[in-house]
Amino acid sequence: MSARAIVLAAGKGTRMKSARPKVLHELCGRPMLWFVLEAVRAAGVSEIIVVTNNELDPHLADFQTPGGVPLQTVVQEPQLGTGHAVQVALEKLPAVNGPLLIAYGDMPLVPAETYRRVLNAIDSNVALALTTARMPLPSNFGRVVMRGPILERIIEARDCTPEELEIDEMNAGIYAYEERSLREVIGRLSNDNAQGEYYLTDTVELLIGSGKRVIPLLEPDYRVVLGINDRIELAAAAAQMNRRLCEAHMREGVTIVDPATTYLEPELTIAPDVVIEPNTRIGGRSKIGPRSVIGPNTQIIASTIGADVRVRDSVITESIVGDRSSVGPFAHLRNGAELKTSVHIGNYVEVKNATLESEVKASHLTYLGDASVGRATNVGAGTITCNFDGKKKNRTEIGENVFIGSHSAIVAPVKIGDGALTGAGSVVIRDVAQGERVAGNPAKPIQKKAPA
Ligand code: UD1
Ligand code: CA
Repeated sequence: MSARAIVLAAGKGTRMKSARPKVLHELCGRPMLWFVLEAVRAAGVSEIIVVTNNELDPHLADFQTPGGVPLQTVVQEPQLGTGHAVQVALEKLPAVNGPLLIAYGDMPLVPAETYRRVLNAIDSNVALALTTARMPLPSNFGRVVMRGPILERIIEARDCTPEELEIDEMNAGIYAYEERSLREVIGRLSNDNAQGEYYLTDTVELLIGSGKRVIPLLEPDYRVVLGINDRIELAAAAAQMNRRLCEAHMREGVTIVDPATTYLEPELTIAPDVVIEPNTRIGGRSKIGPRSVIGPNTQIIASTIGADVRVRDSVITESIVGDRSSVGPFAHLRNGAELKTSVHIGNYVEVKNATLESEVKASHLTYLGDASVGRATNVGAGTITCNFDGKKKNRTEIGENVFIGSHSAIVAPVKIGDGALTGAGSVVIRDVAQGERVAGNPAKPIQKKAPA
């Protein structure tokens, strides 16, 4: 039977001290809720309902991915506790019999496998399976009270006696219920506790009291169930998630010289034998081709890098770098820069919305914006495409095998033909014909000296 899932995300997250809803705070380039929804989906549920609040609800449209599991939301206002949140979700969901997964939106490190394990434990004999974990004290997690091998109840840390606080087996906050059994007890929760909230965890005692079976499943690695309640836990979770992402790529043949200073996001494609040098960030679904060496001190976002590319000390966003090209140190490619094969971009060069054909070289101190540059053209040091006339952006078209002299200012819109040349310091304000040689300010054809 296919399972449904409720993800709780309506809590105020007061410990974050933020104007932004807690579950939208990011680690490794994605909101924490994104990781939870991905793992819940991967666990094989057929439908997800997220319990939100008034601030969060409008943002959730961003999480609908085409072809994904249907996602709906329900607003819980005011937030009267995790039990109340589930009650609100159950009122919206038509009742069915079957397994129902309940997950918390502030636990992005939980792998799909942990959700799958509680779901698989539900059968006609088991009303609730929940994940527990042993962890170092002190801890704010709810304590799992056992009598011998039998689970008795869960007590929130704030309701614990000093002796109960010594218990080191925690409620992870991951549950699979047999839905009908949950519906029987959810209306019977009370808020007679330290926080005055309706606790979902009290369903344990209620179910056991009505003769149902509740089983704890011990998660061996407590670090995967750590939640995020403040910014210190956010940083710790980000480090753990980043480590996990780095390890996944290393297992697939990527060398990461220093995982502690390499920052990756999910959904990257990095080929085997890529080397990532320290202090490098790669994100936004970027792709890196085989044997390329990236970094140190580099940021690549939403870009495609080919094979055998060398990028060092540079920033590349929304751009394409072809095979065997080299970029940097200290270069900036952005907003639709496209380098074909064997292009060289050197220090202090910015390329924006420009296509550079194969074997183009721009080695020093250059801005190429809104431009196309033909094959094997050499762009001299200090060249600027003057693309902005004060009102709008204009295009520069430079042909193949052109020699652009150092410190040329190319005032767009303008075209420079194949095989042309501009002298050092040229200010090019008119088109230059194929094979023509110009120089000066404004640039004019160079007079051929009469033979002596
Ligand atoms: C909860 C558990 C605790 C467990 C811990 C694990 C309860 C009562 N306690 O405590 O036993 O050890 O998680 O991380 O469940 N939420 C709502 N509506 C509300 C209140 C909370 O949607 O009215 C959501 C929050 O957004 C959050 C999740 O439920 O995603 C858990 O709430 P939180 O307040 O963080 O519970 P903990 O104190 O961490
Ligand atoms: Ca929490």
